[in-house]
Amino acid sequence: MCGIVGYVGRFSENREYFAEDVVLEGLRRLEYRGYDSAGLAVYFDGQLQWRKKAGKVAELEAEIAARPLPNSVLGIGHTRWATHGGPSDINSHPHVVAGGKLAVVHNGIIENFAELKSSMQDKGYHFVSDTDTEVAAAVLADLFEQTGELTLAMRKACQLFDGAFTLLAIHADQPDQIVAARRDSPLVIGLGEGENFLGSDVSGFIDYTKKAVEMDNDHIVTVTADEVVITDYDGNPQEGKRFDIEWDAAAAEKGGFASFMEKEIHDQPAAVRDTLMGRVDEKGNLAIDELRIEESLLKSIDKIIVIACGTAAYAGHVARYAIEHWCRIPTEVELAHEFRYRDPIVNEKTLVVALSQSGETMDTLMAVRHARQQGAKVIAICNTQGASIPREADAALYTHAGPEIAVASTKAFLAQITATYVLGLYLAQLRGNMFADEVEAILDDLRAMPEKVQTVIDGKETVTSLAKSMQDATSVLFLGRHVGFPVALEGALKLKEIAYLHAEGFAAGELKHGPIALVEEGQPVFVIVPSPRGRDSLHAKVVSNIQEVRARGAITIVIAEEGDEAVEAYANHIIRIPQAPTLMQPLLATVPLQIFACKVAEAKGYDVDQPRNLAKSVTVE
Ligand code: M6R
Repeated sequence: MCGIVGYVGRFSENREYFAEDVVLEGLRRLEYRGYDSAGLAVYFDGQLQWRKKAGKVAELEAEIAARPLPNSVLGIGHTRWATHGGPSDINSHPHVVAGGKLAVVHNGIIENFAELKSSMQDKGYHFVSDTDTEVAAAVLADLFEQTGELTLAMRKACQLFDGAFTLLAIHADQPDQIVAARRDSPLVIGLGEGENFLGSDVSGFIDYTKKAVEMDNDHIVTVTADEVVITDYDGNPQEGKRFDIEWDAAAAEKGGFASFMEKEIHDQPAAVRDTLMGRVDEKGNLAIDELRIEESLLKSIDKIIVIACGTAAYAGHVARYAIEHWCRIPTEVELAHEFRYRDPIVNEKTLVVALSQSGETMDTLMAVRHARQQGAKVIAICNTQGASIPREADAALYTHAGPEIAVASTKAFLAQITATYVLGLYLAQLRGNMFADEVEAILDDLRAMPEKVQTVIDGKETVTSLAKSMQDATSVLFLGRHVGFPVALEGALKLKEIAYLHAEGFAAGELKHGPIALVEEGQPVFVIVPSPRGRDSLHAKVVSNIQEVRARGAITIVIAEEGDEAVEAYANHIIRIPQAPTLMQPLLATVPLQIFACKVAEAKGYDVDQPRNLAKSVTVE
């Protein structure tokens, strides 16, 4: 939550761009992380100047257009998801203290802010905002006064702060540098020629450089135009890990679509294809280079626990069906925020798979730490390079979905299912549960999916007109069995988060145990129908479930594969998807549900990419 950007370069009047341009561009790209207020501060001619505004980055831009900033080569900026203090101009970042000389932006929560605040008040400090960030800024200013050195002051300040934070600070008396610190909150450094960058993730500076450095927890960095110096909080020199950024700037643009969500739905064939790429060695065996965990260890595991939140957790539920079927290893899926509080049984024989698009979800990160403390090995399946979860896991397997900007996750879901399937097949091959030709046959099924996903996307008109006709619905139910169950949950989540519509996903078999009481005349019910060519009984039971709700007045919207005629008699609407093996169906059946939610939200005039109260990456617990 919250997006942070920093820029430092060398001054010349005829430069193509200045700090304001870089910081504003970075904020626009990071806005998905939080969008209730935004601000920036730059240095010019011996002083800092800043603008900040409640609302989206566009409000800040309007403010700057009305009150322009000077050309500068040092600046920091922030786009906020409020924690302490509601969204308002005064609570927006940067928080500027020390008579206008020190500006601070912050992501995270300073947990002991109340105690620090009262000690600063005792020293005569008068606070103007409700934020913990202003407290951090005041502490930093106080320490700067004592030390006369921003890096030193930041080191000492961080030793006083509890909680999770990324902090960026600039001081008018040291105008050639940004000092930044992190603990359990994201920060990446971008390396340029005669200029350097800081961002919550690489999209903060993706327009300017492809070279980046990961920074560990409890480290501080002093960034000038020519140098990046990392230390720990005691001042001991530290190395960051360099990497090349794979994403390009165009991948983080809407590319002609009305919203990022729509664009990302269209990216899905490529997301699945790219996630599958390069996984087979020259002998034709499935090989995952990134998995640096000893084979003997992977052979000895007796339990898998998938930890994740939201959409990623639903991808985990889908994966469970496949992994248990292929590997015969008991597999649990647990919401990351519940995991460590229930004292889970985890040991050296447990493999934990942490699924996260952003790689920064705090709940998942904490669960990863807990699992490793208990002796488990952790494999992170993530989409974002340089993020905390893959960095702290024992091994990482990257999905190659490209940047996902819309708050509602779409392509990451399909890419996560694909990556967990690759992992499941790899384990099955390694442990001898499947023969090479069986693995190859399933890989072929997976390789056929991008084209089939494209077919579903090409048929979007049916779903679009359905969405328009249903925009006034007050509640929508989703039913599925087997892998169709997590798909139903995902369909309901999409509708809740972007169309603000009450929606529930149920295991179709659970219907008669209670939820069917919700069904009355005109209730829209989506039903995900498994392939009739899969387990016969499964298909027949779902067809019965459609009949049951239809008999009670529901409007049934049936997602069924081509050629499945059994559903026709009971469906008010049918959305056809290409034929595919049972375990592959989630990659297809989810797509119309994503399109449906997107189009209902659009029809209601909502901001599809930035739904209320949410942020893309949830970096607080
Ligand atoms: O970045 P992560 O995959 O860890 O994020 C997990 C959830 O916060 C995320 O999937 C969330 O549920 C989405 N907004 C759903 O569309």
